[in-house]
Amino acid sequence: MKKLQAEKPYFEAGHGKIIHGDSLDVLAGYKAASVDLIMTSPPFGLVRQKDYGNVDANDYLAWFRDFGVQFHRVLKDSGSLVIDIGGAWNKGQPTRSLYHFKLLIMLCEELGFHLAQDFYWWNPSRLPTPAEWVTVRRVRVKDAINTVWWLSKTPWPKASNKKVLQPYSPAMKTLLKNGYKAKKRPSGHDISDKFSTDNGAAIPPNLIAIPNTESNSFYLRYCEEHGLKPHPARFPSELPEYFIRMLTDPGDVVIDPFGGSCVTGEVCERLKRKWTCIEMLRDYCEAAKGRFVRDSEMSAKAFANPDDDKNYYRLPRPGILWNGEGGELLQKDGGKTRLPKAASPATPVLKKERMNKKEPVLVTATAAK
Ligand SMILES: C[S@@+](CC[C@H](N)C(=O)[O-])C[C@H]1O[C@@H](n2cnc3c(N)ncnc32)[C@H](O)[C@@H]1O
Repeated sequence: MKKLQAEKPYFEAGHGKIIHGDSLDVLAGYKAASVDLIMTSPPFGLVRQKDYGNVDANDYLAWFRDFGVQFHRVLKDSGSLVIDIGGAWNKGQPTRSLYHFKLLIMLCEELGFHLAQDFYWWNPSRLPTPAEWVTVRRVRVKDAINTVWWLSKTPWPKASNKKVLQPYSPAMKTLLKNGYKAKKRPSGHDISDKFSTDNGAAIPPNLIAIPNTESNSFYLRYCEEHGLKPHPARFPSELPEYFIRMLTDPGDVVIDPFGGSCVTGEVCERLKRKWTCIEMLRDYCEAAKGRFVRDSEMSAKAFANPDDDKNYYRLPRPGILWNGEGGELLQKDGGKTRLPKAASPATPVLKKERMNKKEPVLVTATAAK
């Protein structure tokens, strides 16, 4: 592997630094058992290459193995490795690659990690791709989750779900107000009266809903002002923040070996964790400075925080358009042939004016809007 300039910080902030280099080289210089959390989103295994060095899904394990060995070595026994990784489609067919599951198995069965918990990041703003399967032939649905593997060096990484509680749902608030009678559920679960204890907030599930719709931020404004290209695959800051809060204390050491635009560093800086983001492309390091530098009146201006995404946090309930037994028959060859538009299966929709009546009328509209 070609050695890049390593170790010397490209940029330093109050609690951490950006290093321009190859993380394999940089981590080789780290002491064993010195890191509390590795929070990262590696280049995904893709069929189509992007401009930040994605690796072909088929070669992914061989590429990742050396990183996995270093990650295991530098983590403390109480430490965690959190990997946000998206899935991939197999070339030329509507089936999914197994590469991210194979990665998980390699990390656990070959390199000694434990799967502390699997998380799923649901991004409701994901576009319906690949268009051929999702919007043209209509044989698959939108792929809107990334898997997030929370791995640990021992079965007992330090963690507390009390750091990531979420507000109670309206139903739970009502229940807490009116009281709950302890009884057995139809499933056989015995729900004790402890269920109605008000703990101030709820324990979250392992499904994390965050739209990735950043369009106005210090980072983007800095890039614009300095003629820099923003990183094309940034995760939303809430994602690293969730794990940094749950798995580390202030002063703990957090690294992101695939730093990108340094979102992890920005969150750590705010939460006072000691951080290092390692990124091998200089342009991304340069742009990442925008998360910390306020060098013009414009970039320092505070941002309004529009609360326009609260609806994203509701899981759409299937069934709203299910109506009797009507509709087209499914395409017998599973979408193997691409039908002319007029012949493609139709989408059932409800006539607006009948929506609230008891038996809505089913009408059809041409598919693939
Ligand atoms: C998916 S992006 C990370 C994006 C980041 N989480 C963010 O929100 O901005 C992966 C990054 O890893 C970088 N990268 C790939 N291989 C690397 C290596 N060996 N050492 C350091 N960085 C690497 C790529 O240049 C890319 O910017």
